[in-house]
Amino acid sequence: MSRWLELVVLHRGLGFFGCTAQHSFVLRCVIGIGAMSETNTVASLVKRVESDGPIFEVSNGLLGVFCPATVTDIEAANSKNATLPHRLSDFLPGQRHQEPPLWTDIRQALQIRSRQQNCRKFLEPLHRRMRASLDLATNANADQDLTMLVGKMISESLIPLVVDGMGRKCAQAVERDRIHKVETMISNAHATSGLSDKLKEALIQISAGRAIKAHMVKLRNGSVRQRDDFARAVLDFDENLTADRAAYLVTTILTAIVGAPGTVAAGALFELIRHPHWADMIAEEFRSLSEDELYDDLPRSVPIAHQFAREVLRLWSFPLITVRRASCPIEVRDFSVAEDGHYCLSSYVTHHNRQFWDNAEHFDPERWSSRKTVKENGAYVPFGWAPRTCPGAALGLSQLLLFMQLMTVEYAVRLKDPHKLQKKLDGLALPQGLFGQVVRR
Ligand code: HEM
Repeated sequence: MSRWLELVVLHRGLGFFGCTAQHSFVLRCVIGIGAMSETNTVASLVKRVESDGPIFEVSNGLLGVFCPATVTDIEAANSKNATLPHRLSDFLPGQRHQEPPLWTDIRQALQIRSRQQNCRKFLEPLHRRMRASLDLATNANADQDLTMLVGKMISESLIPLVVDGMGRKCAQAVERDRIHKVETMISNAHATSGLSDKLKEALIQISAGRAIKAHMVKLRNGSVRQRDDFARAVLDFDENLTADRAAYLVTTILTAIVGAPGTVAAGALFELIRHPHWADMIAEEFRSLSEDELYDDLPRSVPIAHQFAREVLRLWSFPLITVRRASCPIEVRDFSVAEDGHYCLSSYVTHHNRQFWDNAEHFDPERWSSRKTVKENGAYVPFGWAPRTCPGAALGLSQLLLFMQLMTVEYAVRLKDPHKLQKKLDGLALPQGLFGQVVRR
């Protein structure tokens, strides 16, 4: 199976594809069916868009759609009636039947929670948790893989915002699952893992899914206090939502925070190292802020850091390729995808399209300065395409900025071999050679 697709699906424990053990496991098998070959690297897709136009068959009936306006139309058509998956009991006679809720409604509820959490009450503790992880790393006093460190630190610090107040066993199961996902994703272990590794992974996911379900039952019956986390947003969204559906949603969010936030932060660290002049300007900007401005007014209070973050999000977008299954027959403009057929999208390809971006390959935060006007034309999609954009975008951007504050003002990295630092594109965009020590400034 294509390594790409495994990684895409690993991340895609989201939305329609679901992320409980059952879903991500099954999906990995379904999507892999010869849809794409290894030779189709994203870089070659960027070139093909230039020669063949933005819509073409990538391979074996898999349609590649790389024109922003068409992607929006096809996504709208495919998402219109999308719901959470049905459960087996929905089809059994005599069982309590509940129509699964629409994804558009759920996404809205999650978006509201993400915006509510984007303030001092939540950002200050988030910042503190990231700092505590970095302090541990400085204590280690040894060279380590900093891409892995950042991936683990970023997702760990987000957990209480997603589900807070878990009992010891539940927290342990969630932690095992999180660590396994981060390690698999960053070390690309999926590419080589055999059946027994996949079974082990499925068991870890099932156990985390069960633990979350038990926690959701306790939250609902009041034996555990509710907090202002995403779990509560899920319960408030629909008081009749069954525990397994509530658990499915929380697990979906837990999967989402393992992927994009950490890989993008690792990309930011890479670019800060490569652009020390920008790192100095960003440090200066953060140093001039009061605490209130830091936590209550992001990203407005840090225009320079924001420019830099926007460029990081353009060139380190996640994932490189997204493969979708058509949930209904889709006819958009002059092409069609049959029901259960597949099409693929790529923010990476769009963000490298020279039709939309001057000097597209070049990391240039200056392009986002107020003196210049970027003509986005719907071609800037670091948080995905409407209507399926990331519901955690507000929180994700603030966390990225807080991470940049830590890495420019409070900590520095000492790379073991700076010459080995490079960007690797293999399913994901990840820094390679980011190996060394974190030290206090
Ligand atoms: C810099 C940080 C982040 C980036 C770049 C990012 C990016 C993305 C992207 C591109 C998607 C859409 C994937 C697709 O097209 O299917 C997505 C989906 C999602 N993200 Fe984020 N994300 C970030 C942070 C977060 C955070 C902090 C949360 C929650 C706490 C979150 C929760 C979700 C969820 C639940 C989905 C699935 C939505 C759906 O399938 O409808 N994300 N994210």
